[in-house]
Amino acid sequence: MAKAHRSKNTLKSTLEQHKARLGKKKEELERASKQSAEREKQKKKKGKGKAVQRSPIIPFSITDRILLVGEGNFSFARSLFSHPVLRSLPPENVIATAYDSEEICYEKYPDAQEIVEGLRAKGVVVLFDIDATALEKYSVLKGTQWDRIVWNFPHAGKGIADQDRSILSNQVLLLGFLRSVSPFLAPGPPPSIRGRRKKKSDDDSDEEEQESGDEETHTLSTRGTVLVTLRNVPPYTLWDLPKLAKSPPTSHQDNPKYSILRSFQFHRESWPGYAHRMTKGFVEGTGTGADREKLSGKEAGEDRCWEFYLAPSE
Ligand SMILES: C[S@@+](CC[C@H](N)C(=O)[O-])C[C@H]1O[C@@H](n2cnc3c(N)ncnc32)[C@H](O)[C@@H]1O
Repeated sequence: MAKAHRSKNTLKSTLEQHKARLGKKKEELERASKQSAEREKQKKKKGKGKAVQRSPIIPFSITDRILLVGEGNFSFARSLFSHPVLRSLPPENVIATAYDSEEICYEKYPDAQEIVEGLRAKGVVVLFDIDATALEKYSVLKGTQWDRIVWNFPHAGKGIADQDRSILSNQVLLLGFLRSVSPFLAPGPPPSIRGRRKKKSDDDSDEEEQESGDEETHTLSTRGTVLVTLRNVPPYTLWDLPKLAKSPPTSHQDNPKYSILRSFQFHRESWPGYAHRMTKGFVEGTGTGADREKLSGKEAGEDRCWEFYLAPSE
């Protein structure tokens, strides 16, 4: 009897010890799970607000034939050859042009002469008095074909105060350019962007944003592209460049239709020595990204490059 009582007691205490151990284990598990949830929360908090790092897109390769129009002080032309990715770009692959005469260019932009001399010494063809809306009239360009035709920050610069008229004047300029360059674009199959694509939802265009790590697939034989960079804030956005390129107005029936390959942020600072210039001439304290940092949020905005190719005929 005493033996039976003792063994019942032992069983009871063993069960209690086991129960206590289980309770402790449960507590430990709960604590660990809470700690891990808290760690996750902190991680997410830290990640929030951190911009996704994208490396600036360089829309050129060293085999490209590049025609630059509407250059100001030719610092973009020069920067092509200083860019780490493009250092071996052959100078004979590039023609850099300005609308101004040589004399006026040097008057307007005090740094231009030295830059032009440097480019010419390297073997780059530099031309003045070239109207980007009438390229067909220059015998020096006759029969040439280009993989990239580039106009950074086109502006008619007519000083029109009325906003609607100013927009119209710049739209006419862009349409003239898009018409004029079309026979100079290298023929070939349409270029494409390989890799991840991100469709923008806030826009009626078929804009593609190329993300870091994407491989862009211009090859030697793909159709030439036109690159136009604009400030991505009003009034420039009101020029509606993507729409002009994709569906030119009926008043411009001669204009070809373009497809948008992509648009991407243009980082001035990623072009070594590039200093943006206004049509009217050099204004102290402007030209680099630094002057825009002084502007407030919306006004500062971003610069955006649009890349088009001739749409396949319907
Ligand atoms: C805002 S500035 C930009 C200059 C330069 N591309 C840069 O990024 O610094 C606009 C340029 O477009 C040029 N331009 C205006 N009308 C033009 C035309 N019909 N053909 C070629 N260039 C033109 C002006 O002479 C001026 O150099």
